[in-house]
Amino acid sequence: MENFAFLTQNFGRYDTASIGSYMNVGGFQALKKAVNMDGEEIAQLIARNKVKGRGGAEYDMGRKWSQARAVQGEHKVIICNADEGETTTFKDRELIKNDPFNLIEAMIIAGWAMGADKGFIYMRAEYACLRPLLLNAIRQAKNYGFLGTNILGRGFDFDIKLYSGAGAYVCGEGTALIRSIEGKAGRPRMKPPFIKVSGVFALPTCLQNVESLSLVPHLLLDEEGRYAAQGTEDSVGTKLVSVAGNVQKPGVFEIPFGTTVREIVYGLAGGLPEGQELQLIQFGGASGKAAGPDILDCPYTYEDLRSHGVMVGSGGLAVVDKRTSVLDFLRINQDFFSEESCGQCTPCREGNLHIKLILEKLSAGTATAEDVRLMKKIARVMSMSSLCGLGETAQNTLLSAMQVFPEVFEVTERQTGGVAL
Ligand SMILES: Cc1cc2nc3c(=O)[nH]c(=O)nc-3n(C[C@H](O)[C@H](O)[C@H](O)COP(=O)(O)O)c2cc1C
Ligand code: SF4
Repeated sequence: MENFAFLTQNFGRYDTASIGSYMNVGGFQALKKAVNMDGEEIAQLIARNKVKGRGGAEYDMGRKWSQARAVQGEHKVIICNADEGETTTFKDRELIKNDPFNLIEAMIIAGWAMGADKGFIYMRAEYACLRPLLLNAIRQAKNYGFLGTNILGRGFDFDIKLYSGAGAYVCGEGTALIRSIEGKAGRPRMKPPFIKVSGVFALPTCLQNVESLSLVPHLLLDEEGRYAAQGTEDSVGTKLVSVAGNVQKPGVFEIPFGTTVREIVYGLAGGLPEGQELQLIQFGGASGKAAGPDILDCPYTYEDLRSHGVMVGSGGLAVVDKRTSVLDFLRINQDFFSEESCGQCTPCREGNLHIKLILEKLSAGTATAEDVRLMKKIARVMSMSSLCGLGETAQNTLLSAMQVFPEVFEVTERQTGGVAL
């Protein structure tokens, strides 16, 4: 199976250090088209293609742009979320590395469409090697008048600044990310106020993932409807997936929605190592859900994955073969959340730790039936009462695994004593 190329159509086609080279392959044509359109028309184009945000929450992107346009403010901000902290997710890195000018162009278009004058890119600390590439792209775009004042003679001012995170997963969450940009500790805050009204430096802010933004210039120039011709009625177009774990060719692939999971894992990613059998696949990183081998023939669409109890989320797939037990996988996943919880609220801080301790007892064969009941209860309470998405989703993999692999959580009657943590 071949990698499809719509979002990735520029990969390898131009010198990523040169704006001239980018312009030779049609760079900034989308911006030139956009500034002759009304911002709402651009939002409607995105809505017609049913684009959902690619950062994990699957929020309707066209609606987000319309809402952002409607907010009044002398200054407004677009933030590009390049934190990419979700495990098994490394698609945004490829977009930045292979097509940096397209991202810059996308942000300028977003600024025009929403009436924003400031753009911030928040990139994870681990992508420091990509900083020079982006800084160079920003500088060259400025020199060519695509950033700055009166862009393309349309009385439109827009500038972009690059910020680096310091290596915390929680800083991918909108309010934590904003606090980090403001120079504060990167911890989430209560909402409302929602960031679309009061975001970074109290300005109306629209936060969008790298992949979500990167799609926009291509959609604007897609006169033939190549994007809309792919996928299904509800999952239109293509998606980047990053496949990690026990596969022969881990990597990032662009797939038309509707490609089966089997085609992704065994076709594009080369299948499992010789002689190994599939145990589970986790979809959407550590905060995603897991499925057993019966997921293989499921088409990769929002609706089909949901009917199998999993989600597209960030687009990551962790393929796990039978050399790793379900419990070991869950313990490692739980370690991640115990480590990454910012500790600000009790359900998440304590819940993640106690789930981890019970999983360790299960592995050691010392857990009681009451422990298992308690673990399930903690997971439910966390999802309902945590302050931010980290605590709300940290138990997704565990709860889905409890459904798919109930035998792993069975303990003998002998072990039904007290709750010992
Ligand atoms: C703990 C946590 C981490 C997140 N990390 C990221 C991230 O690294 N990149 C990202 O785009 N979105 C991340 N998100 C989702 C963002 O909060 C937000 O929904 C997204 O950036 C919006 O862009 P989109 O609509 O284009 O997906 C994270 C959310 C949570 C709760
Ligand atoms: S849910 Fe977890 S990460 Fe989010 S604010 Fe509470 S403690 Fe911090």
